[in-house]
Amino acid sequence: MMGLALGMMAVCRAETPPLVPLPVELNESEGAFELGPETVIRPDRTMRAEAEILAGELTRVLGAKPKIVPAELRILHPSQIEVIVNPDIDQPAEGYALRISPKGVRIVGKDAAGAWNGTRTLVQMLPVEKPESGKVELRSLEILDHPRFGWRGMHLDVGRHFFPVEDIKKFIDWLAFHKINTFHWHLSEDQGWRIEIKKYPKLTEVGAWRDSSPPYGNRNSDDGVRYGGFYTQEQVKDIVAYAKARHVTIVPEIDMPGHMAAAIAAYPEFGNDDIPGYAPKVETRWGVHPYVLAPTETVFQFVDDVFTEICALFPSEYIHMGGDEAPKVQWEKSSRVKELMKREGLKNGHDVQSYFVKRVEKILEAKGRKLIGWDEIREGGLSPKATVMSWRGEAGGIASAKEGHDVVMASNSHLYFDYYQEPAAQALAKGVEYEAIAGFLPISKVYGYDPVPAALSETEAKHILGVQGQLWAEYFKDYKKVEYHAFPRMAALAEIAWTPLERKDYQGFLARLEGVMKHYEAAGVNHGPVYREPKRETKDGSTVSTSLGIYQQFWPELAYDGRDETFFWADRELKTDDHFTIRLAKPLENDATVTVQTGGPASRNGDRLENGVLEVSTDGSEWTKVADFSGGKAAATAPAGTSQVRIRVTKPQTNWLILHEIRIE
Ligand code: ACM
Repeated sequence: MMGLALGMMAVCRAETPPLVPLPVELNESEGAFELGPETVIRPDRTMRAEAEILAGELTRVLGAKPKIVPAELRILHPSQIEVIVNPDIDQPAEGYALRISPKGVRIVGKDAAGAWNGTRTLVQMLPVEKPESGKVELRSLEILDHPRFGWRGMHLDVGRHFFPVEDIKKFIDWLAFHKINTFHWHLSEDQGWRIEIKKYPKLTEVGAWRDSSPPYGNRNSDDGVRYGGFYTQEQVKDIVAYAKARHVTIVPEIDMPGHMAAAIAAYPEFGNDDIPGYAPKVETRWGVHPYVLAPTETVFQFVDDVFTEICALFPSEYIHMGGDEAPKVQWEKSSRVKELMKREGLKNGHDVQSYFVKRVEKILEAKGRKLIGWDEIREGGLSPKATVMSWRGEAGGIASAKEGHDVVMASNSHLYFDYYQEPAAQALAKGVEYEAIAGFLPISKVYGYDPVPAALSETEAKHILGVQGQLWAEYFKDYKKVEYHAFPRMAALAEIAWTPLERKDYQGFLARLEGVMKHYEAAGVNHGPVYREPKRETKDGSTVSTSLGIYQQFWPELAYDGRDETFFWADRELKTDDHFTIRLAKPLENDATVTVQTGGPASRNGDRLENGVLEVSTDGSEWTKVADFSGGKAAATAPAGTSQVRIRVTKPQTNWLILHEIRIE
């Protein structure tokens, strides 16, 4: 018995790693590799820089930085991690093989991105802190792995709020951790232009600063605080290089012809200056604003100049021109636009949008780049080679793929991570700073998304380049809030972007996610909750009843379900003798302490119970008061034999009632 137990322990120490995204193939075998201070990293010539990054990451768990020894040096090392590229391995682009045996770790990439992806898998296998022994045991296994999609994207809006360079780098680190290879950087907005353009200095001198922002909790108000910031070209170069070293491509977005108020505030002559009220200030409220670029030769020269500088900074094959939410009201009033319409045979505002997009495509094409835009670039007819990012559901993506255009799925139905990840009321009960734009997008819904719409044939489906999560920043005052919304939903995105459909398994994902969350926590990532649908049941079969109505899905059972984060919420004012009663599954065998807490921190003056009593009963007809509520709380001893516990209102109040987990212990 003893021998068997010890043997099992040895195996269990090196457990199956909690990898997200789940690899295509993973086969474990007997034995393990011991990673320790003597382990060296052996990269081939092409992987030296990546090996340096890996060495830095290993330092955290080994306590010292491992040595890097070129793979070409044919020296025998008893403990090594090889990181090499071999284009002849049987894998598609970005694929890799990773083998762990008692002799070491061997990562072979189809290409450099593949070998890098293999190092990300290794990093996820590491413990989050230095083990006491100084050694890490990694179970012997073989992984063969490659992505389902080539575009595995995360978007971040830095227009509504600005995040410093160090935060952007942190964001990129975590993209790489999840094998997300595309960072869609939304760099211009009505509320702020965020990138230095040398030929147009006022874009940042004027356009990067606004006079006020809406405070949390009141989106139709103004805090009156000047706000802004921008990235210099030197900083952008640094970030682009940082991303490149981690095999993350940055796709820059300059949003046009709409979402341009900040730029037009800086250079009013690029607006529709032949109509009244054409010149805005940098916007201080969220939402869609009427200011759009004029479709003139002067403006197309400006666009060309801006993209000349953008293309010099960003090596990305794709450049994003936005194209979303461009109101046509200004164009419809402008006599100059009317002349253009007559000259070019354009019937309406959508045709002008199409004309604008086609001009931008020519500009980008001349620079050797491909145009990508939000699905509104379809308005009035899509330019011939454009790639579409489908955000207003899937319709624009489906239509574009059927017409033979490439598509990235970014649907607001499943991929807008600025939406609430738990019911809005539950998030807001934590405090006003938890306000989000709207919506409800739990992680389960992200995970359930298949980027290939069912409406597409196999041939059409080939146009789906991949999938992307969006982080619009109206309600992200700082980077901590970005993290709260991005994680852990980014992990679900990673898996739908990488793992074959037939390998997806939500329960398995949740189990592996626990390991990933440890990495977040060790690194101080301010991740959000893993929202789990509450079940309408008590923790032990006790039954609850109440005279009060139920607000939304804040069921009475949630006040006795064993979870601190869930609660009951009544849906009306309280009257004398309103009650909330628990009938216990079995009477108390011993005296027990009952504690009750009411009221949420931020909502409606707390929704506390101001005047009430805590009562107990052995039979449900005779009740004994054991405590009065004070400050929204009550605590008392319930004697052995108690079969029911009741909260009873003793004076009417206009506030509703939030009832947190009731403890009887
Ligand atoms: C968007 O959400 N306006 C692309």
